[in-house]
Formats: sequence, structure tokens, C-alpha cells
Amino acid sequence: MTTTNDEGFSALKRYIEQTIKIQCSNYKEDYIKRRLLSRMRSTGTTTYEQYIRYLHEHTPELELLRNALTINVTEFFRDTDVYDLLKKEVIPALFHGRKTIRIWCAGCSTGEEPYSLAIILHDIIAMDKTLSGQIFATDIDEVVLKKAKEGIYPEKSMAKLSAAQIHRHFTKLPDGNYQVKPHLQELIRFRPHDLMSGQPVSRFLDMISCRNVTIYFTEKQKDELARTFHAALVPDGYYVMGKTEYLGREVEGLFTPVNSIQKIYTKKG
Ligand SMILES: C[S@@+](CC[C@H](N)C(=O)[O-])C[C@H]1O[C@@H](n2cnc3c(N)ncnc32)[C@H](O)[C@@H]1O
Repeated sequence: MTTTNDEGFSALKRYIEQTIKIQCSNYKEDYIKRRLLSRMRSTGTTTYEQYIRYLHEHTPELELLRNALTINVTEFFRDTDVYDLLKKEVIPALFHGRKTIRIWCAGCSTGEEPYSLAIILHDIIAMDKTLSGQIFATDIDEVVLKKAKEGIYPEKSMAKLSAAQIHRHFTKLPDGNYQVKPHLQELIRFRPHDLMSGQPVSRFLDMISCRNVTIYFTEKQKDELARTFHAALVPDGYYVMGKTEYLGREVEGLFTPVNSIQKIYTKKG
């Protein structure tokens, strides 16, 4: 039988904060417990104390635990309707009155999201050589960031890309995987960043896409993040959330909805 006492839970949270550097208190408690129990089941441990001992004795488990806590599911052009709007309206609008734009893709996982944005950006820039842009792509998890930088994806990841997009932006490797071409990689700077740090990756940003990342954050943490994003955006800059995410009551006044179904907002004030 699994013992899940409060003392053991607190000790494990402290251990995680010291070793993996993830601040458990910023995540919903139920969520943390579910993820921990899933790792405990996989390692055959039945109490939090036993699992701490297991982590001490089996250091590779630290990486598996980190993966379980951060959940890295993603895909190219996730939510096609959102990307249609980004392509037809939002990203072209960012260039009104300026020649260069800066986008932050926060919680970028293995890179499919920033590369999808880079495909849109590249196609706009290709039509007008006076335009340029930069995407900052960040994640707390350095393992997924490494994969993102490499930009190598299996064929099954390419489902939402057209044949023309694959041809223009990827090289097929001898092993059947696809490698992102350098012209897309040059548009993106990948770097580690913790969204709980209260610090933006940069300022004067024209758009922030932070999608499917805050679902597990506490309400307080989500509000703080919305304030950080608000401060980091230029006036009228865009904030794109995941379709199941929402702005809390305390911060919804900071943004104006552009499309409240696709969760696209602009900065107010
Ligand atoms: C479900 S993925 C979403 C990926 C992508 N944004 C998308 O919508 O497809 C969530 C990502 O958020 C990252 N993440 C979780 N907590 C974070 C934090 N505190 N700071 C930065 N990234 C975080 C995870 O490592 C994971 O890669």
C-alpha cells in the first residue's frame, strides 16, 4: 500500500527543489502528487521517503522525474486555427510601422512551436527582404532544449506540415528523420529560462507565445506570469495563450482580447 504522508511529501518537495531546481510550491499540489505517484509506481517505491532514497541511489531517476514534472508534449502547428490567425493577421500586423520584430516562445519544449513560428516569419521575410525578426525560445528543461536546438524530428511529427513546407524547411536524413534547415534555426535563440523567476527573457517584445505551459501553475503564479509578460511587451504587443488557458480575474484588465476563442490578446496601456 502506498503511504503518502505530509512530512514525507514536504521532504520530497525540498529534495526536488534542491536537486532538480523546480519550485514545487508554484505548481498545483494535486498535479505534483499525481506526477510523483506515477514515478513511484514505476520505481516500485511505496512511500515518499523510499522514493527519496531511490533518487539518492539511482541518479538517472532524477532526469525521469524532471521529465514527469515538466510534461513536454508538443507538435508543429498545434491548433491549426490559431496558427492560421497568426499567419494571416497577427504576425503581419507586428510589422506595421516596424522593420524588425521580436517574439518570445516561452515553454518551447522540443522546438516544434518556435519552428512553426519561424516558418511563418521566414515566409513573410522572404517576400520583403527589408524585414527581419528574432524568436527567443526558452524552457526550464535543458534536455528538451537540446533536442530543440538539434531540430531533428521523426516522420510522424511532420503530419501537420505540407509537402511544400517540408521541402522548403527540412532536409531528409539517411535514417528517415527530418532536420530543420539552418535558415529557420538562425531565426531562433534557444536558452534555458524558468517562467517562475519573475524575469522576462528580454524586453520590448512584440509577441509572446506561452501555450500549454501554465495549466499546472497555481493561480498566483499564473497572475504573476501575466504581469511579467505585460511588462515585457511593447505597447499593443500580442500575448498568445493555449486554448485551454485563461487570464485570471486580477490580470484580465491588463490585456484586450483579439480573439477570445483562440486566446490571442494585446497589451493594454
Ligand atoms: C506541454 S509543453 C508545451 C509546449 C508548447 N508550448 C506547446 O504548446 O506545444 C510544456 C512545456 O513547459 C515547460 N515548463 C514547465 N514549467 C516551466 C517553467 N517553470 N519555466 C519554463 N518552462 C516550463 C515544460 O518543460 C514543457 O516543455
